[in-house]
Amino acid sequence: MLTFSKGGVPVKENASIGEIITESTDFILHGSSINTNVSIPDNLWETKVDREQISQVIQNLILNSMEAMPSGGTISISCKNLITIGNDQREHRYIQIKIKDSGTGIKQESLNRIFDPYYSTKATGSGLGLAVTFSIINKHDGFIEVESEPGKGTEFFIHLPVCESIEKEITGNDRKQTAYSKISCTILVMDDEKSIRKLLTSMLTSLKHSVTAVENGKEAVEAYKKNKFDLVILDITIPGGMGGLETIKELKKINPNVRAIVSSGYANSPVLARYTDYGFSGALAKPFHADDLKEIIEKVISS
Ligand SMILES: Nc1ncnc2c1ncn2[C@@H]1O[C@H](COP(=O)(O)OP(=O)(O)OP(=O)(O)O)[C@@H](O)[C@H]1O
Ligand SMILES: [Mg+2]
Repeated sequence: MLTFSKGGVPVKENASIGEIITESTDFILHGSSINTNVSIPDNLWETKVDREQISQVIQNLILNSMEAMPSGGTISISCKNLITIGNDQREHRYIQIKIKDSGTGIKQESLNRIFDPYYSTKATGSGLGLAVTFSIINKHDGFIEVESEPGKGTEFFIHLPVCESIEKEITGNDRKQTAYSKISCTILVMDDEKSIRKLLTSMLTSLKHSVTAVENGKEAVEAYKKNKFDLVILDITIPGGMGGLETIKELKKINPNVRAIVSSGYANSPVLARYTDYGFSGALAKPFHADDLKEIIEKVISS
């Protein structure tokens, strides 16, 4: 049984989230018949966390997933870097950990109670697992979200902030103020993530470009048919939709001279390294700074 005793003030140290995840997963699932799928990108930002507490969070979530799949199934764990824009209009950087199972799912009416202490639907559950989890993430200034479909499975999303000193190293604290672009373009942005669409739109409009942002390839093709944009910025992977590689092929049919930049959160993606082979004029690894964006746009537009 889990108790609140470990839920004190976090003692934060530099830690590899990937390591914590693999260790916790191996520990809980050792000898079980559950399949696991762990994907941690090499360029995942570092952050400071209380190792023991975050291990406990991962273990609680995996244990719940296991208990939701009594006759076996798959747990997929993946991490990514995430930039969101806060109410203060500033960028905030998080590491997102997604834990997905193919278990029983959670009924709609239970969803807003699962984090309550002592709420449990299990015969022998204490109902403290998620309450402790919530409290730990909260003390790390992070947040946790859940999506679930009864009969299909459940996904938990943990967000841990990238601590300030590390954030400074990423963004560079001695960067020059970004000057306006000399040229003003019409730009089409395609990204499945709302926060990235918002971020790109705000960065590009502050560079005096005009921006249309869409969620997937289908919408990108429709928008491009209506308006031959000076430039398009396409994300490679769009879950459940047409991604950047397919989209560029369609756009080339409409305009063989389309100017496109491919973007990806996987800095090691071969498409970023050999973007011209795939029909792109430039490549952008996420996360990026406004200066990187300005530079690549000027390069592609003047090419
Ligand atoms: N992955 C999941 N799939 C389905 N239901 C879940 C999942 N995670 C949590 N739940 C639901 O949320 C409830 C609360 O979870 P929590 O971990 O807090 O308590 P518990 O697992 O019941 O007990 P304890 O963790 O203390 O042993 C569970 O009883 C279950 O109904
Ligand atoms: Mg539990």
